[in-house]
Amino acid sequence: MSSRSPSPEFSPLAIGEDLTPLPIYKAPTTGSINFSSLLNPPLLLHEDLKSGCGGQLWPAGMVLAKHMLRYHKNTLKDARILELGAGGGLVGLAAAIGCSVDRPIMITDQENMMSLMDQNISLNNLASRVLPLILNWGDPLPKEVVEEKPNVILAADCVYFEPAFPLLLATLEELLELCNNAVIYFCFKKRRRADMQFMKNAKKKFRVEEIENEDRETFTREGLFLYTFRRKP
Ligand SMILES: C[S@@+](CC[C@H](N)C(=O)[O-])C[C@H]1O[C@@H](n2cnc3c(N)ncnc32)[C@H](O)[C@@H]1O
Repeated sequence: MSSRSPSPEFSPLAIGEDLTPLPIYKAPTTGSINFSSLLNPPLLLHEDLKSGCGGQLWPAGMVLAKHMLRYHKNTLKDARILELGAGGGLVGLAAAIGCSVDRPIMITDQENMMSLMDQNISLNNLASRVLPLILNWGDPLPKEVVEEKPNVILAADCVYFEPAFPLLLATLEELLELCNNAVIYFCFKKRRRADMQFMKNAKKKFRVEEIENEDRETFTREGLFLYTFRRKP
C-alpha cells in the first residue's frame, strides 16, 4: 500500500524559527528503559533513524508510556488497544510489558517503520502480545483494525508535520466511528503555532479533556500536553 504522506526526513537543519528543537540526533543504539522504575523488566528499545523520524523515541511517547504504566496497569484487561504512529514501538511495547492486557496490542505506523518495530518486538519477546501493522493516516483502516474495533487508542508525538494533520484527524475520526465509546490517549508536544491549530480542529470534532497526571506541571512546562479524545455525543 502506498503512503499518501510519508513521514518527513529527520533534519535538524529544517527547524523553522518558531520551532523548539526536535530531539537531538542519536547514532543507532539499543537501550533499556524502565520509565522511572514503573516498568520491570525494562523495555529494550533499539533506536535507529535510518527508517525515519519514528526510529527514535520522542518526549510525548515517554509521557504517554509513563501515564499508561502508572494509571492503567490494571484497567486494560479486556481492552482492544491500537497505537498510531508508534515509531519503534515505545508506548505500545511498554504497555504490553507493564499493563495487564489479554488481547494483542496493535502497534501501527508506515511501512518504513515495520522492520524496527519487528526488531523491538523480538528484543522483548512480545511476538504473541503485540501485532505490528501498516496504518497510513487518511487511508482506509486495515481489515485487522476494522475487525478488532479498538476501544483504546494511543497516539504520542504524532503532531509535528503540518501536511499530515488532516490525515491524522481523519483517522482518529474513523476510529471513533468504528467504536463509539473508544477513548484516544493523545500526547503531543507543542513545537510551533500550527500545532495549536491541530488542537483547535480536534476540539471541533471530538470531546477533548486534559488528563490528570502527577507529573503534569513538569511536562507542561516543556510544552507537553496529555489529553483524551472521545466521540462527541
Ligand atoms: C515523532 S514520531 C513518534 C514516535 C513514537 N510515537 C514516540 O512517541 O516515540 C511520529 C511517528 O508518526 C509516524 N507517521 C508520520 N506520518 C504518518 C502517516 N501519514 N501515517 C502513519 N504514521 C505516520 C512516523 O512514521 C513516526 O513513527
